[in-house]
Amino acid sequence: MKILIVEDSRINQYIARDTLIKYDIPCEIEYANDGEDALYRIEQNGIDLVLLDIVMPKMTGIEMLEKLNSMDISYKPEVIMLTTISDSKILNACFDLGAVDYIKKPFEEMDFVARIRSTLREITYKNKLKRATERLEAQNIELNEANRNLLEAHVYMVQKEKLVSIGELAAGIAHEINNPLAFVMSNFSNIKEYSIPITELLMKVKDTPELQEVWKAKDIDFLLEDLPELIDESQKGLDRIAKIVNSMRNFARTSDEDTTEYFDINNLIDEVLMIVNNEVKYNAVVEKEYENCPLIYGNKGEIEQVFVNLIVNASQAIKESGDSIGTITIKTEPIYSGVLISVRDTGKGIDPQFIHKVFDPFFTTKPVGQGTGLGLSISHSIIVEKHGGELKVESEPGVGTCFYIELPLAKTTTKLV
Ligand SMILES: Nc1ncnc2c1ncn2[C@@H]1O[C@H](COP(=O)(O)OP(=O)(O)OP(=O)(O)O)[C@@H](O)[C@H]1O
Ligand SMILES: [Mg+2]
Repeated sequence: MKILIVEDSRINQYIARDTLIKYDIPCEIEYANDGEDALYRIEQNGIDLVLLDIVMPKMTGIEMLEKLNSMDISYKPEVIMLTTISDSKILNACFDLGAVDYIKKPFEEMDFVARIRSTLREITYKNKLKRATERLEAQNIELNEANRNLLEAHVYMVQKEKLVSIGELAAGIAHEINNPLAFVMSNFSNIKEYSIPITELLMKVKDTPELQEVWKAKDIDFLLEDLPELIDESQKGLDRIAKIVNSMRNFARTSDEDTTEYFDINNLIDEVLMIVNNEVKYNAVVEKEYENCPLIYGNKGEIEQVFVNLIVNASQAIKESGDSIGTITIKTEPIYSGVLISVRDTGKGIDPQFIHKVFDPFFTTKPVGQGTGLGLSISHSIIVEKHGGELKVESEPGVGTCFYIELPLAKTTTKLV
């Protein structure tokens, strides 16, 4: 402990010092002859206890206490007043300014020692308490941090599980469709080929008199005219089914994988659109404004999750706006640091009081059972933390919402998990 004796009388300084030494009070002793010197020492040396004279040149004890109170120091010493004045008004003012005790001069040894000991004990307890509080505060901060991390990890796992189950379901369906699709496509390509000679033959025999009647009755002219169109449309339909099945299989694969790879952002969004088409098509027309973008290196499955969330949210916002059909515009463009993607909708928009909450885990405005409030929080963590990008939102109630994603070509600083 450091005790500072602030006293203009040398004799009193020595008496105080000798008494402290005589009674083995464990402390370092410093001296100041006036208030200014005392304040300087308190600031520089970290004093625990000040024995403060009231009447001194330059600055009185009370003035010094006032200055001490206005000083910006992390550790304030306790103050015991040394006084010959029995004027209780002055002492009261000292107590009001923070002094904890007083010792009368001339010193009575026992009184002096008892008061110093008791104040030093208090200081020890106070210091212990302070340290314990600091430890507790630090632990509290750590605990809060751990809690937040745990919540995030939990949220992430829930979403991941959700997507993995969707992925498994999609993979199952895709597998079931894939086999019949393969033989339907193979048969259809034969049908297409067979139709050519059959049509040619029919055209050759068209003018045969015996066939005229049945030709007209069955409207063969129309059938021959319609057949190529039907074949063409059916081929397009089959191609589309094949593409959807392929996307579903890709989606299932990537949603279950923790690997990183190079991918084209436009292709990725197209695959997602195939998956969410059924949810979106009754609410919105999707407009694509793609520019050629450099390949991104990252976790494809996770980035797909982000676009599923954003597009489904956009579609739901349009549905909630009450419009029969809205527009979702998806734009991609290369920028200096990577690619910029925006997903804009003409939905109901976000109330300004909620806009800062949309990325919070479990924040949802959807009816109980419909929204978990996890989609955007997971998307944020995937884009910002895992890929070193940015995810921002702008919205105007009644007009629509736009989410902007900036993705760097690769996150170089941390390994993606
Ligand atoms: N495009 C949007 N337009 C308007 N509001 C939106 C849009 N996207 C998100 N929001 C608001 O942000 C909230 C949180 O979205 P988030 O995707 O995190 O959860 P959710 O859609 O409610 O539930 P889920 O976990 O099923 O996705 C939504 O409930 C909605 O209020
Ligand atoms: Mg959502």
